[in-house]
Amino acid sequence: MKYDSVKFLPGVAVLLMFGIGQAQAVGDSEQGQKKFYTCAGCHAITGYSNSYPSYHVPRIGGQHADYVVAALKAYQTAQRKHTSMQANATTLSQDDMEDIALYVSRFRNNNAALPVTGDVGKGAEKAGLCAGCHGEDGNSEDSTYPKLAGQYESYLIKALKEYKSGSRKNAIMAGFAAGLSDEDITDIAAYYASQKHGLNTVGKE
Ligand code: HEC
Ligand code: HEC
Repeated sequence: MKYDSVKFLPGVAVLLMFGIGQAQAVGDSEQGQKKFYTCAGCHAITGYSNSYPSYHVPRIGGQHADYVVAALKAYQTAQRKHTSMQANATTLSQDDMEDIALYVSRFRNNNAALPVTGDVGKGAEKAGLCAGCHGEDGNSEDSTYPKLAGQYESYLIKALKEYKSGSRKNAIMAGFAAGLSDEDITDIAAYYASQKHGLNTVGKE
């Protein structure tokens, strides 16, 4: 129910305002869990990999709901390209996306650090210029900036290389990725992958 439709009932409106103030998220988590069924085969399995090229399917458990909706729309409109994700997003309605996003956003990380190949210490220094949007440790506060903490190193590397090459289009990230060498990318990815209280496999605590 929208606040507008009840503002003539002051008591209810006040209650709703408090409710809305506390939980800004839209969507229905229970519905989201049901609708997530088709996604579980990839996003609810720890360590699951995309085959060609080989990299881990991104963790979306604990990701900001707003970013999840934005990502699904980007696949739906083919602004972001990935054959199976485009196929999975194509039939989703706005409600479906919001329900699924709310459901997946509620998972938390159990603090187990992911294995990495890059230099975490160097990555921490190099990630300094990313903190303004993604948060000091990759746990961004702003829901338009994806959380990176606890994300798989291989996926972060792939994403940064795609921004750099322009195959994944985003004006802001193209600028930031342009100045990074392959070594920078691996170190930064290692740093975020090692951070705690971040992302997780959907369904895991
Ligand atoms: C066949 C495996 C597979 C299935 C099924 C699948 N995904 Fe994905 N998903 C992936 C892969 C691989 C990526 C990374 C693609 C890329 O690099 O853009 C991804 C990316 C995403 C992203 C973007 C993550 C980010 O950090 O930007 C979201 C959100 C997402 N999937 C949600 C879903 C939802 C919701 C469903 C079900 C409707 C689903 N996926 C079904 C494999 C899958
Ligand atoms: C001004 C804000 C801003 C800064 C600074 C910034 N980013 Fe981003 N970043 C974004 C936005 C917005 C997105 C989502 C873009 C999209 O939809 O593809 C993003 C996406 C990403 C992603 C993809 C995440 C995913 O789940 O697919 C990675 C990885 C990333 N940024 C890493 C970095 C790194 C590393 C730096 C520093 C070198 C950095 N960002 C600096 C705003 C920023």
